[in-house]
Amino acid sequence: MQKYNFPKGFYWGAASASYQVEGNIFNNDWAKAAEDGFVPFAGDGPDHYSRYEKDFDLAKSIGHNCHRLSIEWSRIEPKEGYFDEKEIEHYKNVIQALEKRGLTPFITLWHFTLPNWFVEKGGFTKKRNVKYFARYAKRVTDSLKDCTAFWTTFNEPMVYASNGWMRGNWPPFRFGHFFEMWNVVNNLARAHNAAYIEIKKHDPDADVSVVKNNIYFHGDTKLWNKAKAKVVSWFWNDRFLRKVKNYCDSIGVNYYFHSEYSSTKSDYPKSDMGWDLYPEGLYHVLVDVAKYKKPIFVSEAGIADEKDSKRAWYIKELIYNMWLAIDDGVDLRGYMYWSLIDNYEWSFGYQKRFGLIAVDYETKERKIRESAYEYKAICKSNTLLRK
Ligand code: BGC
Repeated sequence: MQKYNFPKGFYWGAASASYQVEGNIFNNDWAKAAEDGFVPFAGDGPDHYSRYEKDFDLAKSIGHNCHRLSIEWSRIEPKEGYFDEKEIEHYKNVIQALEKRGLTPFITLWHFTLPNWFVEKGGFTKKRNVKYFARYAKRVTDSLKDCTAFWTTFNEPMVYASNGWMRGNWPPFRFGHFFEMWNVVNNLARAHNAAYIEIKKHDPDADVSVVKNNIYFHGDTKLWNKAKAKVVSWFWNDRFLRKVKNYCDSIGVNYYFHSEYSSTKSDYPKSDMGWDLYPEGLYHVLVDVAKYKKPIFVSEAGIADEKDSKRAWYIKELIYNMWLAIDDGVDLRGYMYWSLIDNYEWSFGYQKRFGLIAVDYETKERKIRESAYEYKAICKSNTLLRK
């Protein structure tokens, strides 16, 4: 066995997002889409909203020292300009519950879901709506500024815009609208920058990032395939980051995909989503993002694997690739596995199982999966053992 040590103070944990785990959110675009029959209902799901303390106990018991979660905008600002103090208090309690357990909070202000009133105003298709997000970001971070959290504005702007306006499988279900997608991405970048400025005004020490889903695009030796990989990589991986790079203290990287431009098709092991398991792509994505010269967190990388037969292997290979990136000089500070508990996988509903912890949706019972203990050994020792 080889030993791969990680830098002192490395963050090890898992991630989640409000609409995917909390349950009983009725006032946003996904709840509306479920009512209209376009996506599965989220219902009460894992009911993390009332069980968060137990879930954080479990996270601690499996060796984590940080946790990423998101705040539900539709709870905080259910009507335009009306901020619900009770809900702000709720998230304050959530963050304090993490701190009490020694889990550093990484808080995302927006993880794909929009309050209905904001959608009615045109959401992020309208440049003039950017100010509403900045106001929400200011209000939340101001109320929670005593908490020592890392803040993220947006989760995966490109995924949101491409699913909503190109693939048409997420709200607002627009298919093939490339220019609308382009416009939404621009407004998300504007909203990030505006929110960054607001947050920094009252809390200059806050660490504010954006979380980007980056894909490793690679081609074979053919010039044409190489060129294609380069262009798509600029569009998907770089365009947004270039717009926000002066308004970021760190960058969160979510890694799930590689895309190969090649005349021969290679075969890779697959997750329950049917996605290739290609952990070495993470190394390339990290080395690429390092060009922005910011600290990096792997804010998500994980696998849907109901049988839990590939998860431990996949996690270890991801971590090995993180180590290789660090060894090559990448300033990587932490890893949050997706996800802590099983959750609502968007248009797939609850059937896909990403959790380190299994959830029985009937009884709400949690059960730690075997792979979580293998990850625990790494978190606890700050070291990966690998052949
Ligand atoms: C998202 C998560 C999602 C995960 C798995 C990421 O794109 O941030 O919300 O559940 O991937 O699909």
